[in-house]
Amino acid sequence: MSASAHPDSTDLDRLHSAVKREKADLAPESQPAPLWAMFLLMLVAIIAGGQLGPMTGGWSFDVSNPFALISGGGDPRPGGGGAGDALDPFALAMKKGASGYSVCGGCHQGNGGGLPGQFPPLTKSEYVLGGTERLIRIVQHGLTGPVTVNGQSFNTPGGMQPFGGAMSSQDLANVLTFIRNSWGNEATMITKEMVQKVRDEEKRASQWTIAELLPYAEKNVPGEIPAGPGATAAPAAAAAPAAK
Ligand code: HEC
Repeated sequence: MSASAHPDSTDLDRLHSAVKREKADLAPESQPAPLWAMFLLMLVAIIAGGQLGPMTGGWSFDVSNPFALISGGGDPRPGGGGAGDALDPFALAMKKGASGYSVCGGCHQGNGGGLPGQFPPLTKSEYVLGGTERLIRIVQHGLTGPVTVNGQSFNTPGGMQPFGGAMSSQDLANVLTFIRNSWGNEATMITKEMVQKVRDEEKRASQWTIAELLPYAEKNVPGEIPAGPGATAAPAAAAAPAAK
């Protein structure tokens, strides 16, 4: 039908298409969904979405790397992307230790600076940079009583709890390597074998005091240092780095 066939035909078409565009009327008795229900659904979706990531077994780009499938393992991203296997033992320990440090950071702070009067700093601390026999014991069994770090005195009630029971030798080794090589600190890597050695030799139930730890102040747990600072020195002979 052409527009000239009937003088009113265009108006009729326009009228009908306008009617067709309208939504169907609600059936009697039914109500539109209330706004609060929309918000509730949105809230549920947001919370559920947040759960999805952590609950799906530690999804990470390293594991589910689409490039690895295409290129047969090589990671074409600049800097290698940080796939676990590609890192040397020191870099890997630093990477894992950085996330493990969240356990300590609540007290010793993200920058390792501690909190005056409450939590001693780990930066430039002789307890962190000194003998590994002492450092491993402090974190494995805990510490109580007065301690002076970088000229500041601390004697926090309760001291520091032991972490030996809560962390594997590997996790502890990673965190200790991390605190010895962050925020300007630099010292040899601590391996899982070193932590395990102290665990096997030292069965202690109570927290240490600084005086009890004096014999270990300069002693390093013997063992191979696979990479990082001091890796090229003769393993067992490596002296404790001078406390800064
Ligand atoms: C709940 C708070 C808290 C947490 C968590 C904590 N510490 Fe401590 N840490 C302390 C306190 C308090 C002291 C001082 C204890 C004392 O007064 O004898 C201390 C002392 C130390 C010291 C010796 C002093 C120094 O500053 O060098 C080291 C090393 C240390 N902590 C490492 C760690 C590591 C590594 C972790 C994580 C695995 C950790 N701490 C987690 C509270 C904490």
